[in-house]
Amino acid sequence: MALLKKITAIFPKQSDIPPPHIKDIPLHQTGYLINGEIRHWDGPCQQVLSPVRVQSENGSEPLKIGTYPRLAPNDAAAALDAAAAAYDHGRGKWPTMPLIDRIRHIKQFVFGMLEHKQRIVQLLMLEIGKPLKDSVREFDRTINYINETIAALKDLDRTASRFSIHEGIIGQIRRGPLGVVLCMGPFNYPLNETFTTLIPALIMGNTVILKPPKHGALLYAPLLDVFRSVLPPGVVNIVYGDGRDIIPPLMETGRINVLALIGSSRTANALKKCHPMPNRLRCILGLEAKNPAIILADADLDLAVSESLLGCLSFNGQRCTALKILFVAAAVAEEFLERLNKGLSALPFGMPWQDGVELTPVAEKGKTEYLRDLVSDAVARGATVLNEAGGTVNGSFFYPAVLYPVTDSMRIYHEEQFGPVIPVKAFDDIREPIDYLIQSCYGQQVSIFGNDPQQIADLIDPLVNQVCRLNINSQCQRGPDTFPFTGRKDSAEGTLSVSDALRAFSIRTLVAAKETDTNKCIITDIVRNQRSHFLSTDFIL
Ligand code: G3H
Repeated sequence: MALLKKITAIFPKQSDIPPPHIKDIPLHQTGYLINGEIRHWDGPCQQVLSPVRVQSENGSEPLKIGTYPRLAPNDAAAALDAAAAAYDHGRGKWPTMPLIDRIRHIKQFVFGMLEHKQRIVQLLMLEIGKPLKDSVREFDRTINYINETIAALKDLDRTASRFSIHEGIIGQIRRGPLGVVLCMGPFNYPLNETFTTLIPALIMGNTVILKPPKHGALLYAPLLDVFRSVLPPGVVNIVYGDGRDIIPPLMETGRINVLALIGSSRTANALKKCHPMPNRLRCILGLEAKNPAIILADADLDLAVSESLLGCLSFNGQRCTALKILFVAAAVAEEFLERLNKGLSALPFGMPWQDGVELTPVAEKGKTEYLRDLVSDAVARGATVLNEAGGTVNGSFFYPAVLYPVTDSMRIYHEEQFGPVIPVKAFDDIREPIDYLIQSCYGQQVSIFGNDPQQIADLIDPLVNQVCRLNINSQCQRGPDTFPFTGRKDSAEGTLSVSDALRAFSIRTLVAAKETDTNKCIITDIVRNQRSHFLSTDFIL
């Protein structure tokens, strides 16, 4: 009862929001960046509603936090023209610039970005409801990612700063840019995940059109001028609007060389189909996942419970790496569920700025209805909501629901909920969770909880060929960012770690010559007199 009351009272009055969190809100963002110029938009705008609601006469209503431009296809086309001109078939200033100079520009960008930390974190928190400490963490992680990218690039370049001689041929092999990259990130990590494609794309010499996600667009406002001031015109172009209107026409031109999308496979497949010359398109995609945890009978249950709660409910389960179904050995299922419910009931929930809060309102329109449908479907097919108040909805807030027992007849068994619903299935035979992974459309990660080395080893070998990361006694996760992050089947295309991303956004290219006296003289002359940026033995320290 007390819990239900607390859920009912979760949303504050606008006057109760601590002033620093709504300072300069709403933000009516009218700028967009094309060809080194922040253009002013006076056409239709997108209203931005926070998942945070505020008390009103009729209950509660979403906090209005701003607006951003809804560009028309023509405006997005201008961004493409600018990016293509800056690339200029690989002859532009940016793609031919010495690496050390590109690194200098990106470092300047970091200084500029740091100046806006507070504002970016505030907007991130309000736009997607991410707890304040996690919003700060997302910002800091992004800065680290950029710095680590610079270090990895220097390493990569050092090995490329020498000649190889094989079979009488002298060669220098480097990585070159691919062209115009279209970057689109997800709402759950609107800054970090977008930047994990944007930064490697840029630093390798590509030019970029960036479309911020629908939720998580305002936070780019302070960055427009930083991009404008530190990069040559056209190298980064930022467009806003409804992706369905402005993105397909860009793809249809055939002038996009790389699609970097963290989103759904449905969107990725539709966009790929728009491109008239598929061989000229490289795709770097982070897509859906339905990562299971397998809790073996000898697992440390306290650890399995705490990691499962983190895995299922960090940022309300709105992570592609979230644990989205739990398979528990039947012998310990009852005990596990009891401890899971106890742990869940202790999780603080509320507004994202409140200290220690773990569960917050969800960002997407219609999300609580979707989650409620998943729960109703499971209940109609024999599952029970085990925890007190599980599945209770108040506006944009959905109190987590533990569903047990789930079966393959239920939607929650197959669909990626991307929200705070925890389906649990007991198993007698370990082949059950293995078969689940084999049959799944997705293949990102799995978590195994147990203590018997032989039993764990017996699972590692069949499962590493189903997924791309197997976690022992911990939740699934992307980090550390130096580790490869990818997936099989409909979960990903390409690999993103700090160093893999540099490879993903570039192509190996080389200069080669027969080892004759004339060629040796030519090459020596070019290198000694620093006549080429590519053919060079300069070593970046
Ligand atoms: O949404 C997917 C993210 O890449 C997950 O990253 O595991 O660090 O939360 P994370």
